[in-house]
Amino acid sequence: MTTPADTAHADLHSEFGAHPGDPDDRAAQPVIKIVDIAWLEFEKQNIAQAERFAHDFGFTTVSRTADELSLRGTWSGAPCILIRRSHRSRFVGPAFRAAGHDDLLRLSRETGRRVYPLGDLGGSAIDLTDPSGMSVRVVAGLTDLPSLPDQHPLTFNFGGKVERFNAIQRPPREPARVQRLGHVVIETPRFRENLAWYQEMLGMIVSDFLFFPGQRSRGPAMAFIRCDRGSDMADHHTLAMTLGPMSRYVHSAYQVADLDAVAAGGAYLADRGYHHAWGIGRHIQGSQLFDYWRDLDKFMVEHFADGDMFDSTVEAGWAPFTASGLAQWGPPVTRDFLGANPDPELVKGFLSGLKNDNEFDIHRLLGLLKVARS
Ligand SMILES: [Fe+2]
Repeated sequence: MTTPADTAHADLHSEFGAHPGDPDDRAAQPVIKIVDIAWLEFEKQNIAQAERFAHDFGFTTVSRTADELSLRGTWSGAPCILIRRSHRSRFVGPAFRAAGHDDLLRLSRETGRRVYPLGDLGGSAIDLTDPSGMSVRVVAGLTDLPSLPDQHPLTFNFGGKVERFNAIQRPPREPARVQRLGHVVIETPRFRENLAWYQEMLGMIVSDFLFFPGQRSRGPAMAFIRCDRGSDMADHHTLAMTLGPMSRYVHSAYQVADLDAVAAGGAYLADRGYHHAWGIGRHIQGSQLFDYWRDLDKFMVEHFADGDMFDSTVEAGWAPFTASGLAQWGPPVTRDFLGANPDPELVKGFLSGLKNDNEFDIHRLLGLLKVARS
C-alpha cells in the first residue's frame, strides 16, 4: 500500500534518491533531538528603527529598553526575535528548543559546555558553536508567552462550495500578523561538516537535498532540514543550509494566516516603501506560499503560509539547485534574493571563501554561478 510518506517527493523537480557516498538524511544515534526553533538573536545599531520595521512586518513587542528589543508572534511560545543594541548590525545565531532539561545535560556531557539558567525567559540553556563558527543556543523549560488574538484565515467560496454568504470579502490592508518563527537559512563554506553536526548533535533530518547543476557527483550543496518529532508533524524545514563562500545569515521566515495575509501584508509594506526582495510565489521544497522583504538593516525576512509538515518517516528528496526550481509559480527569482547583487562585501567574501581551506573551491563557485542561470 502506498502511504503519503512514500509519495511526498514524487512530484515536480524531485528525481532519484541518494548515491553511494552521499550524506545520509539523518544520524543513527544523535545526542538529542531538538523539537523546534525557539528564536533568533540579532545585534542592531538602531533599536527604534528595528522596532518600526518589526511592527510593520507583523511582530508584537514583548519588551523594549534602550538596549534590547524582544519581538513575538501571536501563537503561544517563546519570543521570535531578540535584538541587542550594538555598534554594528549582525546576526548572532539561532536558539533551538530541546524536549527537556535532561537533553541540555546530554549536550553538556558531549561538549563540555555548561548549562545555565535563562533568567527572564525561564528555563535553562547551553551555548554551542557549529563547525562554521555560528553560535547555537539550545534551550529548555521556557515559560511560554500566552497566545494573542490571531488573524483568522479567510472563508472562501472555492470549488462550488458556498462557505461565505451574505458577507463580503475584505482582507484588511494592515500588517500581516506574524504567528510564529518558521525557519532560518544559513550559508556555510563547510557544508558537509556543518550538516553532520546538526544531524549528530541536534538529531535533525534532511527533508530535501539540492545539488549544483552538473555537479551531482560532488553531493549536495543545499539541505532543507527538519526536527525529528517522531510521529508528530514538523515543518519541512526549520533550518536550511547552503554551500557558499561565507558563513552567514541568508533569511528567516515567519508564518502568517493565509495567502491574503501574505499579499495584503505585503501591500502594506510596499505602501510604506520597504524593499521587496522576491514574491509572491509558492516554493517547491516545503511548498510554502512566500514573500520576501528586506528590513532596514538589509536582513532578508519572509512571510509564509501553508508549508508542508512531515513526520520522521519521510526520506530526503534530491533535485538540482536551479533558480527556476525555487518556485512552482511566481515572478522570476531576483538577483537580490539570490544574493547576487554587486556588493564589495560579497566580492571580499568570495575571495576569502576560495582562499581558505573549506569545501568552497573554484569548481563549486562555477556550480553556484550556474544556479542563477538555470
Ligand atoms: Fe524560506
